[in-house]
Amino acid sequence: MSDVYRFGVSLEKPLIEAFDLHIKAQQYRNRSEAIRDLIREELLRKKWTEGGSVAGAIIMTYDHHKRELVSKLLDIQHDFHDIIISTQHVHLDHDHCLEVIAVKGNAADVEKLSTGLKVLVGVKHVSLSVSSAE
Ligand code: NI
Repeated sequence: MSDVYRFGVSLEKPLIEAFDLHIKAQQYRNRSEAIRDLIREELLRKKWTEGGSVAGAIIMTYDHHKRELVSKLLDIQHDFHDIIISTQHVHLDHDHCLEVIAVKGNAADVEKLSTGLKVLVGVKHVSLSVSSAE
C-alpha cells in the first residue's frame, strides 16, 4: 500500500457543515473518504479535458428494427476497434437490445465513440462511465 499523507484543511463553518450533510447523505463514513473521492474525480475530469487515458464502459439501449441501425453501430465500433476491449449484447425483448461496450484508451476517443453512438436514430439511451486507466 502506498504511503498515507495527512494534512489539515481550514474551512468556513457553513461550508464544512454543508459538506458534512452532503457526505452523510451519500453514506460516506468519514471526511477523508469523501475528500479522496473528490480529488480522484477532479483529476479524472482533468484527464478528460487534457485527453489522458481512461477505462470504462458505454452502456446503450436501442431498437434493432430501426433501418440500418445495426450496420451503423457495427461500422462505428469497427472505426474504434483499438479502444474497444469487449462488447456484450443482450436481447432485452422482441424489439430492444442492450449493449455494454468496455473501453480503454484516450479520453477524447472514448468521448467521440460515445457521442457517435448516441446520435444514431434508434438509439434510446447511452451512458458513459469512466475511471482512470492508471
Ligand atoms: Ni439484440
